[in-house]
Amino acid sequence: MRSNHVRLNCGITMPLIGLGTYSFPNDRKATELAVHNALEMGYRHFDTAKIYGSEPALGKALNEAICEGEIEREGIFLTSKLWGSDHHDPVSALKQTLENLGMEYLDMYLVHWPVKLKPWVNYPVPNEDDFEKLDLETTWAGMEKCLEMGLCRCIGVSNFSSKKIECLLDYASTPPAVNQVEMHPMWRQGRLRKTCGDQKIHVSAYSPLGGPGNAWGSTAVVHHSIIRSIAFKHKATPAQVALKWGLSKGSSVIVKSFDQERMKENMGSFDLRLDNEDILEIEKLEEMKIMRGEFHVNETTSPYRTIEELWDDEI
Ligand SMILES: NC(=O)c1ccc[n+]([C@@H]2O[C@H](COP(=O)([O-])OP(=O)(O)OC[C@H]3O[C@@H](n4cnc5c(N)ncnc54)[C@H](OP(=O)(O)O)[C@@H]3O)[C@@H](O)[C@H]2O)c1
Repeated sequence: MRSNHVRLNCGITMPLIGLGTYSFPNDRKATELAVHNALEMGYRHFDTAKIYGSEPALGKALNEAICEGEIEREGIFLTSKLWGSDHHDPVSALKQTLENLGMEYLDMYLVHWPVKLKPWVNYPVPNEDDFEKLDLETTWAGMEKCLEMGLCRCIGVSNFSSKKIECLLDYASTPPAVNQVEMHPMWRQGRLRKTCGDQKIHVSAYSPLGGPGNAWGSTAVVHHSIIRSIAFKHKATPAQVALKWGLSKGSSVIVKSFDQERMKENMGSFDLRLDNEDILEIEKLEEMKIMRGEFHVNETTSPYRTIEELWDDEI
């Protein structure tokens, strides 16, 4: 039987398709409705972050479904993320996240970005003087503490380059289980997937469609003529091709849709079978990083003076 889960290095399993919950504007009711619909369609993996503001709505919808006996807490996989302003104290930050969600534990807690911000920076785009000296060793010790306290079942990172992963492994007592990064047919992360694969760290793909419809996103992936022609050949959609490509590389895909038809369509990517020649065609596409993270770069207070420094030249 085809498995729609991956076993992580921490021993737990994670559903390969996750529902993203970042939306702008952050509409509580729309998020709750989308989560209820997603549960009905079989989504069991949900991705949020303190900075998205979606934790309360996601938690409310999940708790309603649990109370009504539709699902059990153990049947869902819940991820949230440590924002830069909380690197000082991951345990308190995770307790706050759990309160927002109305949950007793998370399945996965990720360091959102390799960036430390002043404690009051509760907005997504930091100002030039909002940065503090990065000390990932101390941050990671705080993440490990969260694990020891049973506040989460697994810990991981997000937006980490190969070099940052390798540095982290030098001092980590518990290695990250996941690195959640931008990944789609036009940003394939070949080098990072190799580094993570060698270290048994699962690569989870965010913006697997390239974020069409997001202010910072792009329609380049879903409108690409090659992606469209592969979709046409299989009587599938471009989104399904993009998602199935990510799955074919062994990654999980965190895709956001709050539209019932598109949510169903995205789940349908499991049933698509891509040919080897399709995969080879996709390997030839021009690469284009969409989430470049410019807002974490400046010449004064950020640890990264250039985009290349932020991504350690993996850009
Ligand atoms: N770790 C990080 O730093 C990070 C960064 C970015 C994102 N994420 C996570 O990853 C999730 C997904 O990323 P994302 O939202 O940036 O990008 P995405 O999932 O690639 O794209 C989402 C956009 O595509 C539209 N869409 C969804 N399904 C579609 C389909 N079948 N056909 C055409 N359009 C479709 C959605 O609109 P509708 O809702 O109208 O369908 C939405 O505007 C986020 O919600 C968040 O949970 C994490």
